[in-house]
Amino acid sequence: MDGFVTNEPDLKDEMYAKADMHDASGRWQMIFGVNTLPGYRKHGYAGELIQRAIDTAREQKRAGLVLTCEDELVSYYTKFGFMNECRSDKSQHGGVSWNQMRLTF
Ligand SMILES: CC(C)(COP(=O)(O)OP(=O)(O)OC[C@H]1O[C@@H](n2cnc3c(N)ncnc32)[C@H](O)[C@@H]1OP(=O)(O)O)[C@@H](O)C(=O)NCCC(=O)NCCS
Repeated sequence: MDGFVTNEPDLKDEMYAKADMHDASGRWQMIFGVNTLPGYRKHGYAGELIQRAIDTAREQKRAGLVLTCEDELVSYYTKFGFMNECRSDKSQHGGVSWNQMRLTF
């Protein structure tokens, strides 16, 4: 699982390439990717990491977390409290239409 923090409220594709957009005092924890090796999936490992990221962001007094995902994972992230905002107009990497999801504290 990876990402950075920023004051920008929306996840943009350029963030993936420009690590200097990280702002340690930023309000929003962006989540760029969550991956579990195929042989280890469905054991709750990603869920543990996602929950830890949420807990850490809360401890750090962030405003919340933002991620993008494809349609089939919207219900998965909803379980953690993320709300689907809409199709992102700022993220089209991989030629995919991404949903932007946000968990606000
Ligand atoms: C998504 C991913 C990180 C989940 O990792 P994990 O360690 O298996 O996660 P958990 O064990 O905590 O949760 C498993 C849940 O993932 C969800 N899930 C994973 N892939 C899914 C898919 N293609 N469609 C729908 N749900 C999916 C299911 O809700 C599943 O719940 P279930 O056990 O009730 O079936 C893993 O499947 C992965 O690496 N996928 C490829 C990369 C990817 O798509 N990353 C997400 C980018 S936003």
